[in-house]
Amino acid sequence: MTFDSEEKLNKFQKIITAEIKARKQLFGKEMVQNFDMYNQMHKDKPLKAIFMVIDNFDVVKEISMDFEDFITKTTRDGFGLGIYTIITATRSNAVRFSILNNFKNKVVQYLFDEGDVMGLLGRSKYKLNDEVKGRALIKHKYISLMQVYAPVKFEDDVEFITNLKSTIQNVADKYTGEKLIGIPVLPDIFTTKDFANYKYESTNENLIGLSLDNVESVSADLSDSPYLVVGPSKSGKTNFLEILMSQNNEKAYVFDSDSMALYKYREKFDYINNDEEIQTFIEELTDEIEDRKDKLEDALNSGEYGNPKEFYKSLPSISIYIDDVDQFIQKVQNIPNIVKILEQSASAGIHIIAGVNSAKLKGFDEVSKFFKNSTSGAVLGQMGALSMFPINMRDIPTFGYAILCNNGELRKIKLPKFIES
Ligand SMILES: Nc1ncnc2c1ncn2[C@@H]1O[C@H](COP(=O)(O)OP(=O)(O)O)[C@@H](O)[C@H]1O
Ligand SMILES: [Mg+2]
Repeated sequence: MTFDSEEKLNKFQKIITAEIKARKQLFGKEMVQNFDMYNQMHKDKPLKAIFMVIDNFDVVKEISMDFEDFITKTTRDGFGLGIYTIITATRSNAVRFSILNNFKNKVVQYLFDEGDVMGLLGRSKYKLNDEVKGRALIKHKYISLMQVYAPVKFEDDVEFITNLKSTIQNVADKYTGEKLIGIPVLPDIFTTKDFANYKYESTNENLIGLSLDNVESVSADLSDSPYLVVGPSKSGKTNFLEILMSQNNEKAYVFDSDSMALYKYREKFDYINNDEEIQTFIEELTDEIEDRKDKLEDALNSGEYGNPKEFYKSLPSISIYIDDVDQFIQKVQNIPNIVKILEQSASAGIHIIAGVNSAKLKGFDEVSKFFKNSTSGAVLGQMGALSMFPINMRDIPTFGYAILCNNGELRKIKLPKFIES
């Protein structure tokens, strides 16, 4: 990894820090002092030695104090735990003293400042010059002069790199062990077409984004309705609905907003546009609820399902997509019993998935309350005065990210841009 990949560096720190902790605990439990002792006692299942190699430590100072602290700790504690660090630096003061001190072995090549050489190794009768590349001083009991050998034959820099690459490839080709996966990082550009490139975390249904840690496809849990997608204008609410709608091949109703962004779904789903269509929608929904209730009784009597939710999950899915809750409320508020119908739909396992503009949903009528009482959904930005999901101000996601909320459980993910396939 390079130092400009912040996400990778952070994840790397977490992995190593967790490994240090785990090994310390393991050694404590087994009452062993160090890595060598542990492996001698567990020849059947030895721990792996881990090497951290940092080429040109000079840059570390520019990254962050945090990272320097991490290196200090890893070089101090890692040694006995089988986590070894090798670094290069161009000057001795490129490395914080508390870090430098943790290194048992130092190899010094020609340094511009002769005082540096002495500071690192102590006084020596040998002098280094820059005429012979690879000459170095090394201190074990005494300081000795040595010649470092090159990994490949070469005449100039280009040849060096070319030959080095092919040597590395040769070694890689000979390797028969388990293939190593790098530390996963989120893609910069991510669209719904890219889902195929990622492992599913649980199922391949209702894929909605990528997990930040393992970078795997995450599914939206739509089992509780209404499912609210909350955010300011242009935060990606419609995009969110479309990601789900494009994966749905079962029955669904669509309530578009004035922007008519969902008009293109008028053939795939039941697109509800006028009063007459609303009327039909209500009738169909009422029948469906009745039908589901009837079936539920038989199902529960049969003993096949533990609870109504389980049973409703087994039925063909029915969804209601609402691009803008406020406009939806205006359209349906005069329908008698509308709140009851919505409530019963939700309890009958019919998915109600609705976009909510954070600046709106201000009413105190029963329909507004029905939506405000939601316990599951996604937050895409500032929530305004809305407070259905318990999110701290500082955790508010930036554009392209969402926090999924399910009954108090929160989880941040990266969202794709929806692209029609
Ligand atoms: N995750 C995302 N990545 C990239 N672009 C996105 C993403 N989500 C939304 N967009 C784009 O941002 C714009 C606004 O999104 P939209 O869903 O219309 O927002 P809203 O419905 O909240 O007003 C659209 O052009 C959409 O394509
Ligand atoms: Mg929209």
